[in-house]
Amino acid sequence: MAYCFFIRARHMCMIMRQNFAKSCEAKLNDQINMELKACHQYLAMAYHFDRADVSSPGIFNFFVKASMEEREHAELIMKYMNKRGGLIRLSSVPEPVPCYKDVLHALKHALQLELEVNQHLLDVHALAGKENDPNLCDFIEANFLQEQVDGQKILADYIRQLERAHIDLGEYLFDKYMGSGMHGASNEKNGH
Ligand SMILES: [Fe+2]
Ligand SMILES: [Fe+2]
Repeated sequence: MAYCFFIRARHMCMIMRQNFAKSCEAKLNDQINMELKACHQYLAMAYHFDRADVSSPGIFNFFVKASMEEREHAELIMKYMNKRGGLIRLSSVPEPVPCYKDVLHALKHALQLELEVNQHLLDVHALAGKENDPNLCDFIEANFLQEQVDGQKILADYIRQLERAHIDLGEYLFDKYMGSGMHGASNEKNGH
């Protein structure tokens, strides 16, 4: 108890803490924990697709990379918290949701998770604006917002490509053929 009070007192007196609202600190802690939740979820997905009775090495690599990226995001925010004189509070990570019926199911779950993470980032940004904290706004904009949108587009593309392959494999493969540059020219070179 006394130790907690000491930590708290020291935290509030950090000499370089400036214009960093408690509300922003709490919201950033939530963001760290969301990134770690995504890290955990993607790791569970990756090793499901690595099972001998599933054996999807491409999907395994995709989710391992995604998991590592989420861990990097969490650590980036943790580094930022320390730069602002905030106190990092990690919470327990929830058990991953079982969503491995097939690849399409896992990808759809991943997209849903990314949209939730993105919404929370937008909430952090809005709060930073309300608290007149341009540094936090800039941190979120520079490091997260565009990357989120890019990642969501990739997931949405994968989902649609897989759906197309399920619905009409012939049309899907013909589209691949058209984009392959066979006959020495891509569609752009032909002026289409
Ligand atoms: Fe992330
Ligand atoms: Fe992500």
